[in-house]
Amino acid sequence: MSGTAAVEDLPWWKRAVIYEVYLRSFKDSTGDGIGDLQGVIEKLDYLNEGTALSLGQAEHREINPSPSLRIDAIWITPFYPSPMADFGYDVMDFISVDSLFGDLPTFDRLLHEAHRRGIKVIIDFVPNHTSDRHPWFIESRRSRDDPKRDWYIWRDAGTDGSLPNNWGSPFGGPVWTWDEATGQYYLHQFLKEQPELNWRNPELRQAMMDVLRFWLDRGVDGIRMDVIGMIVKDAQFRDNPPNLEADPDLHPDDIFGRQVHLYNEDQDDVHKILQDMRALLEEYDDRCALGELGYPLDRWVRYYGEDGDGLHLPLNFRLMERPWTAQAIRQLVEEIEAILPSFAWPTYVLGSHDAPRMASRLGGDQVRIAAMLLLTLRGTPILYQGDELGMENARIPSERIRDPQGLRLGHERSRDISRMPMLWDGSAHSGFSSSEPWLPVSADYATKNVAAQATDPGSNMNLYRRLIRYRSSSPAMLDGSYRSVDTGSKDCFVYLRQLGQERCLVALNFTSHSRALSTALGGNGSVEISTYLDRSEATSLERIDLRPHEGLIIEMDP
Ligand code: GLC
Repeated sequence: MSGTAAVEDLPWWKRAVIYEVYLRSFKDSTGDGIGDLQGVIEKLDYLNEGTALSLGQAEHREINPSPSLRIDAIWITPFYPSPMADFGYDVMDFISVDSLFGDLPTFDRLLHEAHRRGIKVIIDFVPNHTSDRHPWFIESRRSRDDPKRDWYIWRDAGTDGSLPNNWGSPFGGPVWTWDEATGQYYLHQFLKEQPELNWRNPELRQAMMDVLRFWLDRGVDGIRMDVIGMIVKDAQFRDNPPNLEADPDLHPDDIFGRQVHLYNEDQDDVHKILQDMRALLEEYDDRCALGELGYPLDRWVRYYGEDGDGLHLPLNFRLMERPWTAQAIRQLVEEIEAILPSFAWPTYVLGSHDAPRMASRLGGDQVRIAAMLLLTLRGTPILYQGDELGMENARIPSERIRDPQGLRLGHERSRDISRMPMLWDGSAHSGFSSSEPWLPVSADYATKNVAAQATDPGSNMNLYRRLIRYRSSSPAMLDGSYRSVDTGSKDCFVYLRQLGQERCLVALNFTSHSRALSTALGGNGSVEISTYLDRSEATSLERIDLRPHEGLIIEMDP
C-alpha cells in the first residue's frame, strides 16, 4: 500500500493508541482492595497480548488467547511512596515504589513484560509539588537558613499578617499555609500537604532532572508531566484578577474558580525548562514527553516549543469540554488543525481520572460516536480505562467519598465518580479484587464488564477493538491528512483522511434521527466499520445513509 513505508518510519508515539491506567483501580493482586503493579502485569494481555513476532510462536499460543484491545502504550498514574493525601500525587520519594503498589523489581518486571508485548510504558512525573513528608520539605521547613529552604516557595506575611497574595487552590481555600516554627508562609496550589517546588532554584532543577534520568535509564518510554504549566509562577507573585464570568453559585471556598489565572501558571519562563527536559529526553532513543495543561489554544500550542523543542504531546482535553454537537466539534478540530505548526502532532483525550465519564455526559448511544471520532482523528488518541466498556459515573455514598476535592468543595465535585474499580467480570468486586475495593464497584458491573462484553459481538468494547485494529492497519488513519467535508447537514460531522491513494471518509451522526448526507466527493466506497458493528457494504458517496447515532468509516474506491 502506498505510504506504508513512511508510516513505519513514524515514531511510536505518533502511531500509538495510549491507554491511561489509573493504578489504584485497575487490578488488585494482593487482596487489599487497591490496584497494584503486579495487577497491571496480570492484565497486560487484555491491553495487548503481543504478536507472534514479539513473543515467539509457541509462547504466543500459550499466553492468554483472550481478545485484547491492542493498545500500544500505557500511562500509569503515580506509584511512588506517598501518604496518599491526593492519592499518589503527593510524592515522598520520586525514585521508589510505594509498598502498596509493589517495589522497584516489580516495576522492572512490568516494563519488561509490557515491552515483550509491544506495549510502551509512560510514567507520571509530578514536578510541581511533593508531599509535605518528602525529606526535601522536612529539611526546607527546618530553618530559614537550611540549604533546601529555597527548594520550596516561602514568603513573609504582609505587615498586618495577611497572606502573600490572593491566589486560590482548585481544591478550595487559599494557596498559603503558615509555618509557625520559621514564621513564613509556604505555597501549595493543591493541598497544604503538597508544598510547591521552586523551579527557579538551579539545584532543585538539577535534582528533578536527575529524577527524570533515573526513570529514563530504567527504560521507561515516556513521561507524563503533571500540571506542567504550573511549575513556574510570576516572579513577583502578583495578585490574580477576578474572573467576572465566574459562576455565582460556586462553593464559598472556591477562590480559584473566581479568579483569572494570570500569575500562578503559564508563565513564559516555563518554556526554557521544558526545552531542558526535552534536551534530556533527546539524549535517549525514542522517548516521549506528554504534559497535562489546559489554557486557550494560542497559549496551549506554545508548549510544543518554538521549533518543536518542547513537549511532544501537550494533552488536549477539549473534546471533553466543548458542547457535544457536530458543528462545535468540527469547529474545534478545524481550530486545532489550523493552529498547529507543521512540526506539531495533534493529540486528543476523551477521559481521565480527573473528569466525569463521557458515557454519562453523552449517553450510551453517542459514546460510540465519541469512540469513532477519537480513533479516526489525525493525532494520538488517549483512552481512559473503562471507557472502552462505556463505564458511567458512579453513584458513591457520601461516607465513601475519598477525593479531597469532593470532600472540600462538595460531593458533586468529587473525582471519585470516574475512579471506581475496573470491571473485569461479573463476580464479586467485579474481578478487581478479592476484598472490598477502596471505592465501591459500579452498580451495573454485572453486565458492563470485560468478560461479558468480550462475548457480545456488538459491545462497546468490541467497537474499540475493531477501531483500534483498523486504525493501526490504515496508513491514512495513522499519517494521512485531515479535511472537513461539507454535506449540507448541521447534525453530522464528516471528514476525510487521506494518504496517497488511500482515502477514508468518516461520517458521524450526532443526533437520534436518521440522516441522508450528500457529499460532492462522488464515486463509491465501502463501509468498513459502522458504530453498530453490523454492516460492511458498498455505498455511494453521493448519498450516505446514517441511522440514528451511527458513525461510519468508508473506504473510498480509487
Ligand atoms: C493533576 C492530577 C490530579 C492531581 C493534581 C495535583 O491534575 O491529574 O489527579 O490531583 O494534578 O497533583
